[in-house]
Amino acid sequence: MKNSIFLPFFCILPCFLKLASGQNDFSDCGNFSKLQKHSKAKKAISDPKCVFQIGNLTSKSIGSFPKKCSKVCSKIYIDETSQLSAAQLKSAFKDMKILSGRLEIVHTTFKNLSFLAGLQTVEANAFGVDISGNPGLEELGLTNLTSISGIFFVTMNPKLKRLKLPSLKNAQLHSPYTMTPAVSVSFNSPQFCLTLQEAKILLNHRKINSFVFFSKVCKPGNPTKKNCVVPKIGCENLVGDLKIGPKFDFKKVKTLKFLYGSLIVKNSSLTDFKVFENLMEIVQMNSTKLAIDVQDNKNLQSAMFPKLRRIYTDHMIGVLFKSNHNSLKFDFKSCFSIRNAVNGPDNHFSTLFDDLSCEDMEKLKKPNGGR
Ligand SMILES: *[C@@H]1O[C@H](CO)[C@@H](O)[C@H](O)[C@H]1NC(C)=O
Ligand SMILES: *[C@@H]1O[C@H](CO)[C@@H](O)[C@H](O)[C@H]1NC(C)=O
Ligand SMILES: *[C@@H]1O[C@H](CO)[C@@H](O)[C@H](O)[C@H]1NC(C)=O
Ligand SMILES: *[C@@H]1O[C@H](CO)[C@@H](O)[C@H](O)[C@H]1NC(C)=O
Ligand SMILES: *[C@@H]1O[C@H](CO)[C@@H](O)[C@H](O)[C@H]1NC(C)=O
Ligand SMILES: *[C@@H]1O[C@H](CO)[C@@H](O)[C@H](O)[C@H]1NC(C)=O
Repeated sequence: MKNSIFLPFFCILPCFLKLASGQNDFSDCGNFSKLQKHSKAKKAISDPKCVFQIGNLTSKSIGSFPKKCSKVCSKIYIDETSQLSAAQLKSAFKDMKILSGRLEIVHTTFKNLSFLAGLQTVEANAFGVDISGNPGLEELGLTNLTSISGIFFVTMNPKLKRLKLPSLKNAQLHSPYTMTPAVSVSFNSPQFCLTLQEAKILLNHRKINSFVFFSKVCKPGNPTKKNCVVPKIGCENLVGDLKIGPKFDFKKVKTLKFLYGSLIVKNSSLTDFKVFENLMEIVQMNSTKLAIDVQDNKNLQSAMFPKLRRIYTDHMIGVLFKSNHNSLKFDFKSCFSIRNAVNGPDNHFSTLFDDLSCEDMEKLKKPNGGR
């Protein structure tokens, strides 16, 4: 969502502190003293022995962490004042497979979070996971983590190159706070990238109301038939730009479903976009690059994509059409259709055809406007 772009600068840390100590308690842990009074609720929500009410993990509190529970209910918070070694944490978290509540690890010097390698699920009604501002962190390494929910923030870890969440399958991500995105994976190492699988799951758009990615998708080390780095016959996921010029073998895009890069069509002889018959998503996480750039295609009269349902872009404009067939200026239906696929609802200027917005184009089409 365009409005959330600047949040990482202005909001993330102050917001976290607010959220962490705020009145809004959406966690599944409920109120411990209430739980003890109402035994029915106790059962329904969680075993009170497995509630770690303190949340802040320090050398003092770690002794009371419910080590034997496979499901723990807590707002786990670890920071630079915790003074705990990876070995101590590993021992505390040895049996924890499900964390109900939240997980915040901030300003620590850990290289990885392998002390949480057994964790499979983070269940959160609201907050979720925040791993931010850890100067030594190189990868998360939560190798058994399969499901996450709530918010997912991994930001400002200057050495972080990979998430390393190879088992991640489900993400029910959402933010209940209007000014806070549901997902932010940004301002990590310049070499940071998401694997295709991680990107697909974190971008599961039907469940997310907003995200901020100043990241990229890793080029697959061993490209396969389905996952390619240059257009190839049979490829479904292309990581890299798709550049189409005067000569292009369109058989190479017939099976393409997901493009992690820009779609650039210049000087081609295309008359429409029926060649992109299976293309569903275009994801361009680099805010300096257009997601779709279509120029100087003198025969191009329709910009309707058969199946495109989503375009992720952090660029100011995102989608640009220029100097194509003159009739394309009047194709406001394609314009709206593309714009509806861009990020969220606040995307008025995210799609331009010869500097016109979709509304301008629609006016042109009216009898007295334009020609
Ligand atoms: C928890 O419940 C007890 C008893 O109902 C109440 O006195 C207390 O204020 C509650 N604490 C919070 C943080 O809601
Ligand atoms: C937990 O740590 C945070 C940050 O240091 C602090 O603001 C908060 O007061 C601590 N909470 C408790 C219960 O110690
Ligand atoms: C995680 O970091 C520890 C040092 O804290 C290191 O010994 C271990 O090898 C690392 N694990 C992986 C998988 O890199
Ligand atoms: C991760 O899951 C695998 C397969 O279920 C299991 O063998 C392994 O012990 C788990 N890792 C940890 C650190 O618990
Ligand atoms: C298109 O091709 C013409 C000549 O064939 C060239 O002059 C022009 O620069 C090309 N435009 C683009 C955008 O590549
Ligand atoms: C974004 O693209 C520009 C070139 O347009 C490149 O210099 C920069 O490194 C890219 N950023 C990332 C995070 O890949």
